[in-house]
Amino acid sequence: MNFQKICVLGLGYIGLPTASTFATHGLQVVGVDTNSHVIETLRSGNIHIHEPGLQTVIESALTSGNLTISFRPEEADAFLIAVPTPFYEDKQGEYDGRKYRLADMRAVISATEAILPYLRKGNLVILESTSPPRTTVDLIKPILEKSGLKAGVDFHLCYSPERVLPGQILRELTENARVVGGITPDSAKAGHALYAIFVKGEIIETDATTAEMVKLMENTTRDVNIAIANEFSRLAEKFGVDVWEAIRLANLHPRINILSPGPGVGGHCISVDPWFFVETAPELTPLIYHARQVNDAQPYFVVEKVKQALGSLKGKKIAALGLAYKPNVDDLRESPATEVVHLLQKEGAQVKVWEPFKPDANIQGINMAASLEPAIQDADAVLLLVKHTEFVNLNPDHFASKTKARILIDCVNGWDANSWQKAGFQIYRLGVNKLPITNL
Ligand SMILES: NC(=O)c1ccc[n+]([C@@H]2O[C@H](COP(=O)([O-])OP(=O)(O)OC[C@H]3O[C@@H](n4cnc5c(N)ncnc54)[C@H](O)[C@@H]3O)[C@@H](O)[C@H]2O)c1
Repeated sequence: MNFQKICVLGLGYIGLPTASTFATHGLQVVGVDTNSHVIETLRSGNIHIHEPGLQTVIESALTSGNLTISFRPEEADAFLIAVPTPFYEDKQGEYDGRKYRLADMRAVISATEAILPYLRKGNLVILESTSPPRTTVDLIKPILEKSGLKAGVDFHLCYSPERVLPGQILRELTENARVVGGITPDSAKAGHALYAIFVKGEIIETDATTAEMVKLMENTTRDVNIAIANEFSRLAEKFGVDVWEAIRLANLHPRINILSPGPGVGGHCISVDPWFFVETAPELTPLIYHARQVNDAQPYFVVEKVKQALGSLKGKKIAALGLAYKPNVDDLRESPATEVVHLLQKEGAQVKVWEPFKPDANIQGINMAASLEPAIQDADAVLLLVKHTEFVNLNPDHFASKTKARILIDCVNGWDANSWQKAGFQIYRLGVNKLPITNL
């Protein structure tokens, strides 16, 4: 297939780098979004998300004239859908007493419907949004066939998951292996040909449902593995062990790779995608369900840790460092740090948050500081929730001169306990409850 013009629907963390990379590889790209803030920001040459290197790529894509930004799709050779697939906040399913989350596919449905008037014979449509198994064949295909064209015969249809790491999206977009699942082998070939324009990693053709399942299996595996690390952190505290040291030692085993515990699991992927399996097969997924429960409960464990350090939290001033769902990104979606802050406030604590990647975050009930100093100066304790490099690199003596707090609670193994103790701090670490040697 020969591709000259494509439409990318959804210009977020996935769609925007994808659209601009195609544009800088010579394709005419129409980037489509329904959010006017996104459209206006991009049209003025700026970007609305934090992703290293992306601003430069966007500028060059826009100035070359290859990338245009629009509210609506246009006729094109291919259409890529990269819109959000969250779960519903206000609806749940239930199976055998287990309540589970339901995928909110409204954006996928409306993006697919938006393509309908422009779909022509010979086109290729690719869904990139992470979706429940069989979405491509059971949801997307019937919508597109309302055009009167037949999927797999008149137009190609694929699912291709995105597996990039935020913070490294531009590099991983081109270098990672890519799975392209077609509803027919010819559809997979067409998808392969499109991605081959810029992908340097291996491109593997398969069927659409396998490709959907691959993505969900990857994220579910991480969720389950983090859940066991979180359970280990609880066990370590019960038995007077330092979980970080125990994990380091266990990982010396050549076939063991235990992940890191922390305040929970967040982001738009790992804390969401396992539910897509549970929703579509609750009778087959008790392990996946319980791993989700463990990770969702971890913020409560953090609050217990804070109480260990401070006693009653009523009226206590706590500086929380980090709100993002993981280190060195500005993405706050489903962040367990946010949940921790809310729970501390419920216990009566006054929490000030410093998130260097999103200082102006506007989350109901959360008090953001404009910089580190106002967050920590009057605090009774400082709580490290995200392992941002700039937090790890803080100088304990300098930090001590800026805060009246002398209690630290480290939930991510970000700080070297000895250095901070030398600077006069008492440090509590998640997953660590070392008993004096005489008690053992
Ligand atoms: N962010 C990641 O690291 C990542 C990694 C792999 C897969 N994914 C998946 O990719 C998909 C997109 O994620 P994201 O992080 O880019 O989301 P995002 O929220 O950053 O961006 C999605 C964009 O789609 C727009 N949008 C919503 N409805 C639309 C519609 N009907 N038509 C056109 N635009 C519409 C939104 O305004 C937004 O700008 C999700 O399914 C996600 O699970 C994300």
